[in-house]
Amino acid sequence: MADSGTRAGISISAVEVTYGVGSREPVHALAPIDLEIADGSFVSLVGPSGCGKSTLLRVVADLMPPTRGRVRINDDAPGTLRRAGRIGLVSQQANLMPWLDIESNVRLLEDLVAAKDAQAVRTQNVSSLLEIVGLKGFERKLPHQLSGGMQQRASLARALALDPAILLMDEPFAALDEITRDRMAFELMRIWESYRKTVIFITHSLAEAVLLSDRVVLMSARPGRIHKVYDIDLPRPRNQETRLSDQFIHTVGQINRELYKVML
Ligand SMILES: Nc1ncnc2c1ncn2[C@@H]1O[C@H](COP(=O)(O)OP(=O)(O)O)[C@@H](O)[C@H]1O
Ligand SMILES: [Mg+2]
Repeated sequence: MADSGTRAGISISAVEVTYGVGSREPVHALAPIDLEIADGSFVSLVGPSGCGKSTLLRVVADLMPPTRGRVRINDDAPGTLRRAGRIGLVSQQANLMPWLDIESNVRLLEDLVAAKDAQAVRTQNVSSLLEIVGLKGFERKLPHQLSGGMQQRASLARALALDPAILLMDEPFAALDEITRDRMAFELMRIWESYRKTVIFITHSLAEAVLLSDRVVLMSARPGRIHKVYDIDLPRPRNQETRLSDQFIHTVGQINRELYKVML
């Protein structure tokens, strides 16, 4: 899947990160990274722990500046979108406000941005969003009354509430049990098929990455760099059968072998 000619999605140019610049022991977390992510595509980052996946995501989200290089999201600086609440972020923990009910949690960003900027447009109808993520009927519940999987659904709804330009997910299902995790992957795929947001998804599960993605980016560590990029040409929509296909099993095996190489 070539990027040339497609509308700019996320453009990562020579992004380098060193933690503790000027300190006694700086950590060179990311070697210069170049990556073009087509608008509306689903890209996964995989690689050994410590290879800089979260660091790269934080730079794209404008949660930290790169030491060098730059990121553009649909030709905008990430900070511009972040301040408008238009970067959707989902992490391992749902990070819901425990004293607010589910609907208020989903509205939270919307309310924060609206308070700062009277021009902010309500782009997503919260009740239809809750229906899409399967939380209809749970609007008045508090987070602790929901299972871990449901809390992550609420976190996803919150991330989608302001019609984000991109959706960044850092091991969103890592804290869930196997069966819930599996269901969530299919739910996410269904939601992505209807919204077609540009997604960067971090996971330790190669099977999850292959199932969901258009491209899988395998990173290596110290400093983090892109080792290989895999185009995943499995037909969509993908389903349970997809995972039983020879092509799926072959691709997961291929990435797995390569992962062992970069871990040595
Ligand atoms: N705030 C920080 N200060 C110093 N080093 C850090 C910091 N955050 C991450 N690192 C280091 O940067 C490297 C990349 O970390 P991270 O992006 O979390 O990797 P991953 O998400 O792939 O596991 C690791 O060596 C980690 O120890
Ligand atoms: Mg990480």
